Amino acid sequence: MERITSVDEVPEDGTVVFRVRNGIEEAPVDEAILTRDDGAVHAWINRCQHWTDVRLDDGDGATVRNGEIICEKHGAYFETDTGYCNYGPCEGSRLPRVEVETEDGEVYLVDDDYGFVGFGPLDKDDEMPQGTRGGDDFEL
Ligand code: FES
Repeated sequence: MERITSVDEVPEDGTVVFRVRNGIEEAPVDEAILTRDDGAVHAWINRCQHWTDVRLDDGDGATVRNGEIICEKHGAYFETDTGYCNYGPCEGSRLPRVEVETEDGEVYLVDDDYGFVGFGPLDKDDEMPQGTRGGDDFEL
């Protein structure tokens, strides 16, 4: 159980970015984001499900409006509490969840599949690990 940040640092109208490693020590570092919805904190891999090599944000946290994370690239909406995409070219998909828990006002990473690397985004020059691109039938 690794501490990420405090609950108070997670805004309801934005996200907090942190870095994770997917299990294997040599695996590329990935980004995740924290969201807060009615006081509950959730975490998601920071990859749009339209083009999964694309971050949801510009590198400093995604826009959240009315309980939805908005992808900066083509404007897909993902619910902050379920990760479900209810609008956009990847409608019906879900963001990959990262398991977190809160205790005494702190947020902890408790996911067996991810190790905590650090607080904040990857360097701007770092490549996101490989992804897929789909949803081309949606008018962008
Ligand atoms: S990359 Fe996010 S909606 Fe297209």
